[in-house]
Amino acid sequence: MERALYGPGGFFLRPEGPAGHFRTSVHASPLFAGAVARLLVRVAAELGTDEPALVDMGAGRGELLTGVLGALPAGLRVRLYGVERAARPPGLDPRIGWTDRVPEGERGLLFANEWLDNVPVDVAEADEDGTVRYVEVDRTGTERLGGPVEGPDAEWLARWWPLTEPGTRAEIGRPRDEAWAAAVGALAAGTAVAVDYGHLRAARPPFGTLSAFREGRETAPVPDGGRDLTAHVALDACAATGPGPYELRTQREALHDLGVTGGRPPLALASTDPAAYVRALAGAGEAAELTARGGLGDFLWLEQRIAP
Ligand SMILES: C[S@@+](CC[C@H](N)C(=O)[O-])C[C@H]1O[C@@H](n2cnc3c(N)ncnc32)[C@H](O)[C@@H]1O
Repeated sequence: MERALYGPGGFFLRPEGPAGHFRTSVHASPLFAGAVARLLVRVAAELGTDEPALVDMGAGRGELLTGVLGALPAGLRVRLYGVERAARPPGLDPRIGWTDRVPEGERGLLFANEWLDNVPVDVAEADEDGTVRYVEVDRTGTERLGGPVEGPDAEWLARWWPLTEPGTRAEIGRPRDEAWAAAVGALAAGTAVAVDYGHLRAARPPFGTLSAFREGRETAPVPDGGRDLTAHVALDACAATGPGPYELRTQREALHDLGVTGGRPPLALASTDPAAYVRALAGAGEAAELTARGGLGDFLWLEQRIAP
């Protein structure tokens, strides 16, 4: 997964960027960037500063940061960082910094939309005797069971995703916990938010969720560098590893709280100001997509606070 996504010729280093293959909330509607801008204003107020940082983890091609720049209220001087393994995109606003490391010691908001699901993980499967083994795969996608899972990986499975039935599978989320803890730990103070497809210990998917996308379509998870490889995130495990108190809720709840509600505009507006009505109707449609049950609204938001 590491080589196929980030090695030479890896999927995420391709010039077209992730948006060439799939659509996240960031691309679904500018309302998402607007909500992140409002959250940043809130975090800045909590910190008592008008110079907060916004760190976008796994920034893609800077789409979210560009959207937030356009939605910020006057008077807030924000230091913007895109943290990305891919190179700085051409034409990005010069006010946006670009780096492959999380900046240390910033105060503000760290936001990671669909980052953790692309942090590589190993897959484990219980064999017919119930022994949990690593799943090995070659570049054609042919799989076989390898050695038994031991040590810290086995401890992680025992705590977060026990496999008991033969044939059941798990993605070992330990590298994601560590990546999240390091990202949150780099903040001096503020809030860190991870938004992703997630699952919790009480209801893990019995066969895991490893999957792949190419040019907008789901495809077989073959590690050939030509497709996005992704697996839903055990966000409760990340939360327990990250420093500071946290809240876990759905995107629907988090966006409602930030004013993205999806309510239809009043019909009377159609006769008094038809253009405004049409704009409001389009906005309501986009808000509905971002908060939809069975869709983007079911994503989980993990919000972790670092006290000053
Ligand atoms: C699914 S894309 C999400 C892009 C964007 N956040 C969005 O929501 O549209 C995940 C991105 O995370 C980046 N990424 C993965 N691991 C990273 C790391 N350790 N440091 C920086 N970027 C990383 C990938 O290169 C990829 O661009």
